[in-house]
Amino acid sequence: MHSLANGPEVKKALIDTSRAGYLAAVSASAYSLVSMVRAFGPLMRRGGAVASLTYMASEKAIPGYGGGMSSAKAALESDTRVLAFEAGRRYGIRVNTISAGPYASRAASAIGIIDDMVTYCEGNAPLTERLEATEVGAATAFLCSPLASGITGTTIYVDKGIHAMGMAVDGTTVPARG
Ligand SMILES: NC(=O)c1ccc[n+]([C@@H]2O[C@H](COP(=O)([O-])OP(=O)(O)OC[C@H]3O[C@@H](n4cnc5c(N)ncnc54)[C@H](O)[C@@H]3O)[C@@H](O)[C@H]2O)c1
Repeated sequence: MHSLANGPEVKKALIDTSRAGYLAAVSASAYSLVSMVRAFGPLMRRGGAVASLTYMASEKAIPGYGGGMSSAKAALESDTRVLAFEAGRRYGIRVNTISAGPYASRAASAIGIIDDMVTYCEGNAPLTERLEATEVGAATAFLCSPLASGITGTTIYVDKGIHAMGMAVDGTTVPARG
């Protein structure tokens, strides 16, 4: 299980992120999965599984999720597909990633806007209850179990469905012009 991320400049907009900050985010948050699969692949049984955690900022612009963390998550999702192929052929293991909805963990609280992200999801997702960590854990247990033996190289959303939405439910009133 790969469940770590770090972006020292996460509070900066991508456009203001230094090269060092950007590379640090990709190194800690994405390359670490590559090195993990390389190190553990030879030790794992065939049929074993690797899972990681990603976030929708990889594919949609999320204001405030900066510092190259969106780039790191895009890399993590792409690497999940390539590692699934390579580690599948080499070791017979599966590699998937879970795109979780916002949750006020210690790391997420460092972003500075996590409460807004959680509130936005409650207001706009198909399922309006707050996401529980146990829901992410249950999906992970499924993905790492033999029940998911045919699933590899995928990004699975555990986010109360917010990824499916293309328009906000609240805040849709267009301000009067002039
Ligand atoms: N919380 C959310 O809203 C949310 C949403 C989607 C995805 N995720 C992802 O879930 C994963 C776990 O994060 P979390 O939100 O549960 O927070 P968390 O604070 O519980 O976990 C983050 C972990 O990363 C570790 N870490 C940080 N920098 C590291 C480094 N350089 N080397 C090794 N370990 C390091 C920390 O020690 C910590 O254990 C991350 O990949 C995060 O991006 C979180």
